[in-house]
Amino acid sequence: MSENGITTAGGAHDGSGEALRPHAEVAFAHELAALAAADDRPRPERWRLSPWAVATYLLGGTLADGTVITPKYVGPRRIVEVAVTTLATDRALLLLGVPGTAKTWVSEHLAAAVSGDSTLLVQGTAGTPEEAIRYGWNYARLLAQGPSADALVPGPVMRAMAQGMTARVEELTRIPADVQDTLITLLSEKTLPIPELGQEVQAVHGFNLIATANDRDRGVNDLSSALRRRFNTVVLPLPATPEDEVDIVARRVAQIGSSLRLPPAPQGMDEIRRVVTVFRELRDGVTTDGRTKLKSPSGTLSTAEAISVVTSGLALATHFGDGVLRPGDVAAGILGAVVRDPTADRVVWQEYLETVVRERDGWKDFYRACREVGA
Ligand SMILES: Nc1ncnc2c1ncn2[C@@H]1O[C@H](COP(=O)(O)OP(=O)(O)O)[C@@H](O)[C@H]1O
Ligand SMILES: [Mg+2]
Repeated sequence: MSENGITTAGGAHDGSGEALRPHAEVAFAHELAALAAADDRPRPERWRLSPWAVATYLLGGTLADGTVITPKYVGPRRIVEVAVTTLATDRALLLLGVPGTAKTWVSEHLAAAVSGDSTLLVQGTAGTPEEAIRYGWNYARLLAQGPSADALVPGPVMRAMAQGMTARVEELTRIPADVQDTLITLLSEKTLPIPELGQEVQAVHGFNLIATANDRDRGVNDLSSALRRRFNTVVLPLPATPEDEVDIVARRVAQIGSSLRLPPAPQGMDEIRRVVTVFRELRDGVTTDGRTKLKSPSGTLSTAEAISVVTSGLALATHFGDGVLRPGDVAAGILGAVVRDPTADRVVWQEYLETVVRERDGWKDFYRACREVGA
């Protein structure tokens, strides 16, 4: 890293671990190295690992030498297998799902495992210009020398094409339709023309693209059918069971907590289970035992939000409590996640609190804590 703290994106990582949120290929460098060493299956050209090893990196496992690969994605194995296989074909991968179903997370880990670099990223917004996908210009050079290869500033997708790497496009359906269309030629011809120079960049083996799109954005900038045909779509579901969701939250909280230098909180499992139960019941519109129908609030109450409620609770417990995660530490976070619309959602919450939480065995402290923050 240079003196001003700027590192080269996609360049050499020193892995010093000082970054607040290191890229996947840095954070899990030891696992990737162990997998590469153990991996004797055929690798597609320019892949760092075989498809089997990439899937193992995502799903977790234990290698012959005893190295433990932590699961990154908790969910159906087949989903990961289809996603990885797609990347080895000439079709691009589209990860689709409601917010917080790990689309971004899976995309980052796939790019890290396949290409050793997850930073070739275009963030899709309503203002994403074509240059973000293709290339831009260094204007000082452009003015001084006219259009030349030196003045050209390749975008992440162009770099991935030239180097045979995995490019990522986040929130594809937020990008205006005409800018999305840039991707059609690029994905079908595997070529990016540079008319100003009378040249083109041809993708080399190893290039592919992972896009993510949010189910809730449907209708904003729907993919044209021409573009959709270039993609294999993989839908990421919400966690199937409460146990899976508790497992996901506990793992992520432990990781985030340690990077925020919070002490581990093994006693926090009760609260994690409680947050997940509340989120799932309100999301599903019915209590776990199936007896009571509930109204659902307007928010998504995603796994990702459960993770942040527990992480903030842990920080509260650490700095202002005795370090043990208690009902009072998560109550405010839950309320904030549930009550997005101050009128309608508050009614939903009050009803849930008085009919379900209040009556439930062992939930007295939690009920009291919720009453306190909600008052
Ligand atoms: N099935 C899952 N397996 C592992 N982690 C998950 C799962 N679902 C959600 N997460 C966690 O939720 C967090 C948010 O996911 P993210 O990729 O930002 O969601 P999305 O892009 O789908 O909105 C990530 O930190 C991830 O660890
Ligand atoms: Mg995302």
